Amino acid sequence: MQVEKKPFKPLIVAFCCNWCSYAGADLAGTNRLNYPADVKIIRVPCSCRVNPLFILRAFQRGADGVIICGCHPGDCHYTTGNYYARRRMTLLFSMLDYLGIEKGRTRVEWVSAAEGQKFAETMNSFVETICSLGENKRLEDLRCKTE
Ligand code: FES
Repeated sequence: MQVEKKPFKPLIVAFCCNWCSYAGADLAGTNRLNYPADVKIIRVPCSCRVNPLFILRAFQRGADGVIICGCHPGDCHYTTGNYYARRRMTLLFSMLDYLGIEKGRTRVEWVSAAEGQKFAETMNSFVETICSLGENKRLEDLRCKTE
């Protein structure tokens, strides 16, 4: 008997800083702009709060893509937080690439509180990229599988 395969539904984790990107996501919702429900938003105080281990853990737990959204450079509520985040993520993403996680599965975007449209467009394009890459099997921890 052949087991029927379910259509691919990506699991996307989006870390959004409280002061800009989360407000941008809120604005997208208020303006009724659509973005896929596959995006699970985690609100963080600042993009620099995202420890690289959070991203590794997300992939371990079965995420197909991880995006970090923060304030535009120069606009961070904590002055330089997003500069630290940018540097950290550049290093981490190149390490992930080395581990076989395609570059398209990770992204850093700057979205301000007034950019609901940009937030929705970013999420739509990111989900599209992840759908074209397919399911992520790298780093997946089988002990975390629920099915
Ligand atoms: Fe938004 Fe720092 S407060 S990136």
